[in-house]
Amino acid sequence: MIDVSALPKAELHVHIEGTFEPEQIFEIAARNGVALKYASVEALRDAYHFSDLQSFLDLYYAAMNVLRTERDFEELTLAYLRRAQAQGVKHAEIFFDPQAHLQRGIAFDVVIDGLWSALQRSARDFGITTKLIMCFLRDLTADSAMQTLDLALPYQERIVAVGLDSAERDNPPSKFAEVFGRARASGFLTVAHAGEEGPPEYVWSALDDLKVSRVDHGVRSLEDPRLVERLRDTRMPLTVCPLSNVRLRVVPTLAEHPLKRMLDAGLVATVNSDDPAYFGGYVSDNYAQTAQALRLTGADLATLARNSFEASFIGAAEKAAFIAQVEAAGDATSKEAPAV
Ligand code: HPA
Ligand code: ZN
Repeated sequence: MIDVSALPKAELHVHIEGTFEPEQIFEIAARNGVALKYASVEALRDAYHFSDLQSFLDLYYAAMNVLRTERDFEELTLAYLRRAQAQGVKHAEIFFDPQAHLQRGIAFDVVIDGLWSALQRSARDFGITTKLIMCFLRDLTADSAMQTLDLALPYQERIVAVGLDSAERDNPPSKFAEVFGRARASGFLTVAHAGEEGPPEYVWSALDDLKVSRVDHGVRSLEDPRLVERLRDTRMPLTVCPLSNVRLRVVPTLAEHPLKRMLDAGLVATVNSDDPAYFGGYVSDNYAQTAQALRLTGADLATLARNSFEASFIGAAEKAAFIAQVEAAGDATSKEAPAV
């Protein structure tokens, strides 16, 4: 039996606004004098039943409305880092959604300065190195994304990459080809959510139109054998989020999740939490529950942890050092037996 929280791992797909736990939503709402339409923490948690991505996004955007000040964003981030530390996270690449805050009148610098003051303490206080990825909301216009990119340029040393999230259906990556081109020319790496609810064609578009370094989710890629070949041959990482996929009904049950098939097909799959406050678990919970449902072995879990560092945006020497830590943790356990 493997203690998955002791396995060193990188988290590459987590939305900081999706780590906002109900208790903290109530605490910050009270401090800011923001009224909530739920009477209690329990009543809010009871609303966490989703029929698809949009039904989740409606609640996700409503809850983040209580975030108003730099302190709010700092406390949100510190709370995530504390939980991530307990889950064996050694490195985190964290998404944030500036347009969701700009639309509510919260300035870009309030958001990024709040996140940054927490992240600056992360290595020292939590033993977690971090990077930030700024996502564009794909259900807004390409013009709006371009204006957001302009706001980010002065903060480029704090932001490693741009990404694409929110409602995928009818919002293909190609809509943002020009923005992503400009982002790359300015020195940002690129990632994009694709193949979560959208078809394999959207994964092709993320690769060819946006020149991404990783695909976020990408689980629907398995529907297209030529795409699987392309992803495998280029060792294109996929940031898979199993509990999210079940909660948002991308996949009916964890036992039917394609993660094991992805690994068996030679894909560089990683396991991540997406919006852990909403989907029933942080990253280790995703590893443990998926391992149980799919009968993953200790060797599979070590591969996932190794992949998480390989797929990260850190330097080669740092990757090698983290991967050595994974090997050391793996040597302490049996590789072939079911892991949990
Ligand atoms: N998919 C798309 N957009 C999102 C998600 C997600 O799972 N979480 C937060 N924004
Ligand atoms: Zn996501």
